[in-house]
Amino acid sequence: MASGCDIGLVGAGTMGAMLALNMAENGFRVSVYDLDPETSRKFVTSAGDLADRLQAHETLADFVQSLKPPRSIILLVPAGAPVDNLIAALSHHLDDQDLVIDAGNANFRDSVRRAEVAAENGHPFLGIGVSGGASGARFGPAIMAGGDKHAWERVSPILTAIAAQSDGQPCAAWVGPDGAGHFVKTVHNGIEYADMQMIAEVYGILRDGLALDPKAISAIFARWNEGPLQSYLIEITAEVAGTVDPESDAPVLDIIQDRAGQKGTGRWTLIEAQHLGAAPTVVEAAVAARNLSAELPLRQAGAARFPGAGRPLGESDTPTLEVLEQALIAAKIICYAQGFDLLAKASDAFNWSLPLPAIARLWRAGCIIRSGMLNDMAAALEDSPETNLLLAPALAERVSGAQPALRQTAILAMQNAIPAPALSAAVSYFDMLRSARSTANMIQGQRDFFGAHGFERTDRPGTGFHGPWHNRHEQR
Ligand code: 6PG
Repeated sequence: MASGCDIGLVGAGTMGAMLALNMAENGFRVSVYDLDPETSRKFVTSAGDLADRLQAHETLADFVQSLKPPRSIILLVPAGAPVDNLIAALSHHLDDQDLVIDAGNANFRDSVRRAEVAAENGHPFLGIGVSGGASGARFGPAIMAGGDKHAWERVSPILTAIAAQSDGQPCAAWVGPDGAGHFVKTVHNGIEYADMQMIAEVYGILRDGLALDPKAISAIFARWNEGPLQSYLIEITAEVAGTVDPESDAPVLDIIQDRAGQKGTGRWTLIEAQHLGAAPTVVEAAVAARNLSAELPLRQAGAARFPGAGRPLGESDTPTLEVLEQALIAAKIICYAQGFDLLAKASDAFNWSLPLPAIARLWRAGCIIRSGMLNDMAAALEDSPETNLLLAPALAERVSGAQPALRQTAILAMQNAIPAPALSAAVSYFDMLRSARSTANMIQGQRDFFGAHGFERTDRPGTGFHGPWHNRHEQR
């Protein structure tokens, strides 16, 4: 049995196969194992010129023996129980210092637990978020690593070599201990959900409000991709809108059912945000919109009972395309500010010292949310990592200029019954963020009235003040 492979990879599905080819192309010898031996065998035999740097093994024992010690093994299998099962099976074959790297979309709480168990057993562990889909995995993903820092240093020559590059720097970094890498990837996905939803809402305004066909919509997004909105998601939006279904000759968008799937990372972002007291309201709207999209029969019944959604805009209402572009710019900055705020809160709560500027930099290429604007965000976080992105001078100025367009867009959507929950959430968040006197004094008054919860006063220091409510004796 040949040995001496630089790295092992378990799971020769699409993502695993692409990552293995990427590593082989970068000169590394990769050993591959899949629960289905046929899958890994077929993968290696169809790898063309790269096959001589790949080995397929049918048993875990042979697979582990094929690796240079101390070994490094990447798992790319479905998140959850399959990862635990594999780690348990592998543990019988591993020596001290052999490293297991979970590269799936794990819940960061699982990664925290796995890192603890691995440390007890003398094995280092890394949980890495890998973004960029199949083509990213093949030609350069963004990699967010969490776990044992020494283990990262050991394996980083391989993982930085295969990562995407931005400004000559690899889009791969260790971001913190235990679950930090998977947490950062989860928030990346939350932002991904939000960005996609905001784009979809503007698509809705173009389609229903302006009665444009997919081809025209494609051209608009393609043009926006040349400007400040330049990003992978805007680019693929233009492609999706411009593609024709070969079977029906119709625009493919018109035959795609409007029910969005989700594997859960957007939801995890919200769950963790609630634990941390953060308010990523644009992500909330995006996840809720996906949930509601899935309720097709309910929406059909709603359309029959309350017709009139998605009305064409009147001529005097029709926004210029520049207004819609500016709306997306403002909403995007607001949404990313929410994401980075969530990362900052997690960093404090878990003592991770997350390097926010480095995270913004590594998102600039390879990952699904890569965009030109991340350059400005990285620069702003570099200058003042403690400042909320919305208040960073360059971005604050941009939002100031673009927010009237966002407001106008949200109002038009609402007036014409075109659903735009994420854009509207962005406006409301922005307005709350700039309210020095919010309405929470009323909430505190209500809480004190019915529950004697106490409040702070604006005219003197201290806590636990009560109002002269008529029921105050019953309450205490
Ligand atoms: C990425 C993607 C990738 C995947 C997500 C989204 O960064 O490469 O986020 O991880 O597309 O799982 O999936 P859902 O939309 O199904 O939740």
